[in-house]
Amino acid sequence: MVVSLVEADRIRSLTGVRLALDPGLTVIVGPNGAGKTNLVESVYFGMTSRSFRTSDRRDLIPFGSSFARCRVTVSGGSVDHVFMASASRAEGNRFVMDGARIDQAEAMSHRPMVTVFSPDRLELVKGPPAGRRAHIDSFVAARWPGRASLRSAFGRILAQRNALISRIAAGNGDSSQLSTWDSQFSEAGANLSLAREEAVAELDERWVEAAEDLGLEGPKKLTYRPGSSTSSEEIREGLQEKLQNDLRLGRTSWGPHHDEIRLEMDGRQLRRFGSQGQQRMGLLALLFAERTALLETGRSAPLMLLDDVMSELDEHRRERLVDRLLEGGQSIITAAEGELIPDRPGIRRVSISELTDQETAPSASEAT
Ligand SMILES: Nc1ncnc2c1ncn2[C@@H]1O[C@H](COP(=O)(O)OP(=O)(O)OP(=O)(O)O)[C@@H](O)[C@H]1O
Ligand SMILES: [Mg+2]
Repeated sequence: MVVSLVEADRIRSLTGVRLALDPGLTVIVGPNGAGKTNLVESVYFGMTSRSFRTSDRRDLIPFGSSFARCRVTVSGGSVDHVFMASASRAEGNRFVMDGARIDQAEAMSHRPMVTVFSPDRLELVKGPPAGRRAHIDSFVAARWPGRASLRSAFGRILAQRNALISRIAAGNGDSSQLSTWDSQFSEAGANLSLAREEAVAELDERWVEAAEDLGLEGPKKLTYRPGSSTSSEEIREGLQEKLQNDLRLGRTSWGPHHDEIRLEMDGRQLRRFGSQGQQRMGLLALLFAERTALLETGRSAPLMLLDDVMSELDEHRRERLVDRLLEGGQSIITAAEGELIPDRPGIRRVSISELTDQETAPSASEAT
């Protein structure tokens, strides 16, 4: 599966932008403030109905407008699918595929995984574990489509158990319901933990290899640190042991919602001790490790969105990066200066001004 068309109807500074994409590497070039990050954000928004820059999707609504909307066409599966995400002040968010509403898990099974490198995205390495859990779960969905709904299924059960726990703690909950939720929780929790453990096991060596290739020196390791267990019996036992504590806290303190995925260098967490450059390499290497794993297991490669990656890298690393990207899979790089992108056959270069000027094109042809 590849993304064949992006239509950013209205996203931030972009109106009526239409970009047909190649299956390989596309470079978007343009000066600061021209809308390159907005374009990459549009692609991500169209595929996921989320932004990697903000948790408030209303930020994407163009100033003075009432809604934001982007459409993305995915080809190469059994049929083409058109995803459309929108955000509106009056009507909230909508996410549809071929005109029908869908949830994240369904979307993931009909589109390639989408991964992002951007200065904001470093949060994935530096920030709290929740971001890494969500990221690994999207890899799980791309790697094993049958497991795409494990995350949302577990999330629902966790919310229900937490609600029950806080009702019981407040004295108006039915504690006989706990046992049902505990068995569902331990079942769903173990499935999710096991998937994460297997995902990290597949990625570890590939991450080390990619990180070395990109020049991140020293011994490295990607590890899964479960917040509970991969065994449903053990999760269930833990829930019972910790019940009093949970009632005091008013929430569930044991389970895969406390999992951590650690990126380590020289035995230390990149998150806490890595330099900016090392964290950047660590993140890029993770995205490449995922891509290699998906390609080698016959899955669709992720669409890689690399915003402003070149300005951060020296010449040798820029060459290694582009060569890796050209090895296979679909990717979009943005750059303020086209010269920063090494010259290689197979790269399609697009100037952002070609796209942002399109807005006048349809009306001109309509007039004739
Ligand atoms: N909601 C919005 N509505 C309209 N314009 C917006 C909105 N949000 C941001 N912008 C504008 O979008 C422009 C920035 O676009 P973008 O971040 O895509 O630039 P860029 O090409 O990535 O620049 P750089 O090379 O500096 O990263 C700014 O002029 C900003 O004011
Ligand atoms: Mg930018």
